[in-house]
Amino acid sequence: MQWKDWESTGMVNLPDQPTASGACKTCHFAGMGGNWLSGDAAATFEKNRLFPYILKIAVGTVDETGAFKDLVPARRHIDKGKESQMCDQEPCHPTFLLTPEMETAVENFFLLSYARWKQGLCEP
Ligand code: HEC
Repeated sequence: MQWKDWESTGMVNLPDQPTASGACKTCHFAGMGGNWLSGDAAATFEKNRLFPYILKIAVGTVDETGAFKDLVPARRHIDKGKESQMCDQEPCHPTFLLTPEMETAVENFFLLSYARWKQGLCEP
């Protein structure tokens, strides 16, 4: 995961996305619910490279023996919004829907990071 991708895709704008109860960063500034989105862009990027926050971006799959197989997009920042609109049992997450641009940013950031990892360009 690289800062230049976080910036160029527009992931830097994720903490400012609105919900019915304020922007993401008003609640997620210190990692609430395992989701770190604060007003400090550099810190937010660094936190999202680590567990458990990275699991909102990418998750591993396993093969039939239970061995690690691949990484797939977690899409939690996108899907949490869709789920929030269908919630019929309190406590519900504040309702939101990412803009198409923000949704694309989340998708592109995964794809760029995944491509680099597949090419073996990530540090161990
Ligand atoms: C009013 C406070 C509040 C705001 C604003 C808020 N959240 Fe959350 N969020 C929570 C709480 C509390 C949890 C933990 C409980 C849960 O999962 O619903 C959570 C959990 C999450 C999780 C991790 C759990 C999961 O299901 O993957 C994600 C992802 C998430 N929020 C995304 C967002 C995004 C994106 C925004 C902004 C568009 C946002 N949240 C705004 C309170 C908030």
